Amino acid sequence: MTATPHESARGHVTGEALYTDDLISLYPGILHAWPVLAPHAHADLLSLNAEPAMQEPGVIATLTAADVPGEGNTGANRHDEPLFPTEILYHSQPVAWVLGETLEAARRGATRVIAEYRKRTAVLSIDDAIAEGSYHSGPFRITRSNAAEAIAASPHELTGELRIGGQEHFYLETNCAIAQLDTSGGIAIESSTQHPSETQEVVARVLAIPRNLVTIGCLRMGGAFGGKEVQANPWAAIAALGAWKTKRPVRVRLPRYLDMVLTGKRHPFYARFKVGFDEQARLCGVELMLWSDGGWSLDLSDPVMWRALFHCDNAYLIPALDASGWVCKTHKTSQTAFRGFGGPQGMIVIEDILDRIARTLSLPPDVVRERNFYREEDSTHYGQTVKDADRIARIWSELKQSSDFEARRASVAKFNAMHANTKRGLAITPVKFGISFTATFFNQAGASVLVYRDGSVQVNHGGTEMGQGLNTKILRIASEALGVPESEIRIMPTNTAKIPNTSATAASAGTDLNGAAVADACRQVRERLEALPESAGTTFSQRVDTAYRSRIPLFAQGFYKTPDIHFDPKTATGKPFHYYAYGAAVAEVEVDAFTGAHKTLRVDILHDVGDSISPSIDRGQIEGGFAQGVGWLTLEELLWDAEGRVATAGASTYKLPSWGELPDIFNVNFLERAAEPTVIMGSKAVGEPPLMLAFAVREAIRDAVASFGKGGEPVDLNSPATPECIFRAIRTAKGERL
Ligand code: MTE
Ligand code: HPA
Ligand code: MOS
Repeated sequence: MTATPHESARGHVTGEALYTDDLISLYPGILHAWPVLAPHAHADLLSLNAEPAMQEPGVIATLTAADVPGEGNTGANRHDEPLFPTEILYHSQPVAWVLGETLEAARRGATRVIAEYRKRTAVLSIDDAIAEGSYHSGPFRITRSNAAEAIAASPHELTGELRIGGQEHFYLETNCAIAQLDTSGGIAIESSTQHPSETQEVVARVLAIPRNLVTIGCLRMGGAFGGKEVQANPWAAIAALGAWKTKRPVRVRLPRYLDMVLTGKRHPFYARFKVGFDEQARLCGVELMLWSDGGWSLDLSDPVMWRALFHCDNAYLIPALDASGWVCKTHKTSQTAFRGFGGPQGMIVIEDILDRIARTLSLPPDVVRERNFYREEDSTHYGQTVKDADRIARIWSELKQSSDFEARRASVAKFNAMHANTKRGLAITPVKFGISFTATFFNQAGASVLVYRDGSVQVNHGGTEMGQGLNTKILRIASEALGVPESEIRIMPTNTAKIPNTSATAASAGTDLNGAAVADACRQVRERLEALPESAGTTFSQRVDTAYRSRIPLFAQGFYKTPDIHFDPKTATGKPFHYYAYGAAVAEVEVDAFTGAHKTLRVDILHDVGDSISPSIDRGQIEGGFAQGVGWLTLEELLWDAEGRVATAGASTYKLPSWGELPDIFNVNFLERAAEPTVIMGSKAVGEPPLMLAFAVREAIRDAVASFGKGGEPVDLNSPATPECIFRAIRTAKGERL
């Protein structure tokens, strides 16, 4: 099929595609909101006097706890996020907001607010949290067989630990919300949210009004990556509260540094492991303990930890496992969903372990990985059968072939023999990623399709567009299901007034769920049109008009729920995932012993997208996800200062991947003959899985580092593998003092 571009591709580059903040000119008299920020990471708020802000010219109102008609709490799961806190739980937490005719007026007003604090000691790291017993939740635990016995009985044993850094979403569009009273007693909000129905729920809670008075719209987002799954809610709530109080439209938009200081990131993790394995490098048993840094509130940290525990096997059979996870409570931003949702943090540990086993036994890491793959009909540690496990081996061998793996391993060895201070590394790593929300009830979607008498069509669904191409795929699905060209179909902006009770567009399931719901609605309309007599006409619009005159409804609602999934957190068993997405990557890097810098020379990817609904979108998701994974694993280092302030609050201090970090040679291919019969159009979800293909780069770096040593020694490398980290690892490998 032809590679149709993203439906907004033209708008993205010309600037015609609008984002929430671009709508500002549609709201005359709009007020701008600015927060009063607490100067401590942990403190008691002793007093707050917002009154003086009103003396500032252009300030129209202030917002404090006294203005909240309902529950002043935006916490999505546990209600643990006060809008106006009395105990400060992270640095720069807003304690009040000021509304001004201009942003400048609001900012100046905010400086006039008087607040007194009593500073308290802050917990700022996972280590501190463990030492103080500061947890949100846990332990969550998945076990299989008796891991301790299996390890004790195995011929080899190793232990280790791994520190895994967080990641800033750095969506190009920062968080934004615009609220306005509507014309019949309700309130309408435009929000950059991945989860409009939850934003609606939170606004209704804060205003103490039923949800039918709140509508949330989202035209599109300029990237979200999980960062707007729950963390769009507080800004929408402030905008709503401001509009409710002043009866004027109110805009909240976080400039980049505020977005980086106030919103959550990928969870940093700390892992400890003990592993037993045999002479053939087969895993016998694994004991694993994971701690995540949840930050100041719970947010989505529980399901993130569950997904880490589900994915601590990646593509490998672990016959005996005891894996537990704790969510640490720290005085930092509240860490949240980020592409992969804990999966990457779980998977990186087993990849780290397998390379250690390979070094210990002096076997090639790719051989060790391959020997531990799931085979058909094996089941995971939570009891789900890996039905199509043969795909792992098929992808592996096809990719090794197409990337010329064996020959390149020989040439890497030759290069390394000739260079003392520059070494190359080559690695291949697999990805197996479970598709479905792990909370089963989220796996549902609705749609509504309206056909007008001229044959033109409006499609509504509950998903949100964040650049991932959901609407491009929905357009194709609707076109095929109705038998109407894409040009006749309009995908409407997402709005809670069209489809109620939607799930977040997340877990990579946007197309699987919403696409199937749209297809269901289209099928109903099409069947009605097909039931018309021959004389109804041949073109779509003729038949539509005939149907109208015959009093046949030209609109339909569609619904979809993922079949046959279930999970019981009490026993930690079930079938949480509808299916797995697979892929593998080969990376070759060159590492410099003097600087610790590395360069990625070549990357080959083979990824399983099923039957692609849109090859150009899927390719973009694979390339983009991979690059984002490379950023997480090798470049992006979040730092907090001793006061608990985010020290990397801008692109000047936070290193993002750019063109220079992409491989010189970058081959991306789709697995062929890969249709997934139980998913819409035989496709597979693609949003998150490719991020984890970037493990190949990290493992190639470890491979290069290992060749600085004598062999037989595992490579310790924390993540991200910054030049400092690599430099230290090389010194260690060479047996030199640090
Ligand atoms: N791609 C772009 N361009 N922008 C994004 O924000 N988010 C990712 C992924 N790809 C994202 C993206 C994440 S975290 C998820 S869960 C999926 O897209 C969500 O969309 P989907 O379910 O429609 O794939
Ligand atoms: N993945 C992504 N987002 C989610 C999930 C999940 O499994 N559960 C709740 N939000
Ligand atoms: Mo994606 S982390 O599930 O929004």
